[in-house]
Amino acid sequence: MKSETVVASPAVVAGPNELLLRVTGARLLCEGIREVTLAAVDGTALPSFAPGSHLAITWAVGERNSYSLTGPMVEPRHYSISVRRDDAGRGGSAWVHAMDIDDVVVASRPRSAFAPVATARHHVLVAGGIGVTPIVSHVRAAVHWRRSFEVIYVHRPGADAHVDDLHALAGDRLTVLRSGSELLAHTRSRLSDAPLGSHLYTCGPQGLIEAVTSAAVAAGWPPRRVHSEPFASAAPATGAPFAARLGRSGALVPVGASTSLLEALLARGIAVPNLCRQGVCGECKLTVRGGAIDHRDAYLTEDERAAGEVMMPCVSRAAGDRVELEL
Ligand code: FES
Repeated sequence: MKSETVVASPAVVAGPNELLLRVTGARLLCEGIREVTLAAVDGTALPSFAPGSHLAITWAVGERNSYSLTGPMVEPRHYSISVRRDDAGRGGSAWVHAMDIDDVVVASRPRSAFAPVATARHHVLVAGGIGVTPIVSHVRAAVHWRRSFEVIYVHRPGADAHVDDLHALAGDRLTVLRSGSELLAHTRSRLSDAPLGSHLYTCGPQGLIEAVTSAAVAAGWPPRRVHSEPFASAAPATGAPFAARLGRSGALVPVGASTSLLEALLARGIAVPNLCRQGVCGECKLTVRGGAIDHRDAYLTEDERAAGEVMMPCVSRAAGDRVELEL
């Protein structure tokens, strides 16, 4: 019998920890946001995932973008992602918007750096714009586990992706708002009223996250109960050239002005795990032996940054002309 050859687009082969997925559905949720569903090419159930997980999809050789999973989480038959087209981006979102049914893609297994705290007494979930995507899976989990929660969702008129899903899941625990000022006023009031032991989760543009986080701090919330996930790093990975000294071999790896440290290491054949390449997922974390760091990620805590013992090479750089790595 002739076996079927599966060709991914772009022409890359799934690695041992990667998934080969076929596009089984696509629809426009609202202007500029497309939902795509993906199933295993062999039709089997897919790996389960924690709320707030994302897939990193390879959209060109050496190029991957991470997208939050919005569908059911336990051994699902398909994954769903919702992608806002960004014509000023590197091209990954436009590629997703051009996907056809039966296209085959390579993706990482689901990873989460934004999971809910199971012991939280109450979950306050705040979503801004396309930042609603990980919040949808948080809401699914909260409903499934009968956890106490509420959702606050702010979006521009017409850009209301997943609002129907949230209405169906959350009912009157959902508040939909149309402006940042409404969001802040409502969130402040909810943060004051939330029971002790509540946790706050926010996903959206960096400015929204900073405003909501500041409101939580002002209301006396301890940082350990405040969680956030920006959907892109606020800072570019490029900057002044520097060099990375590899502690084990003593080799010096130059990092050019328009190259990230991660790219420079990979180009030298040094294997560094990575997923989002946006300073968000935590996958590429490296131990630093010496040298000041210009931290640009959205993953490390303030204490980790201050200690200067680790860095995220996909976006962060040396603050001077050299950094020494435990590699
Ligand atoms: S690859 Fe995700 S933080 Fe660096």
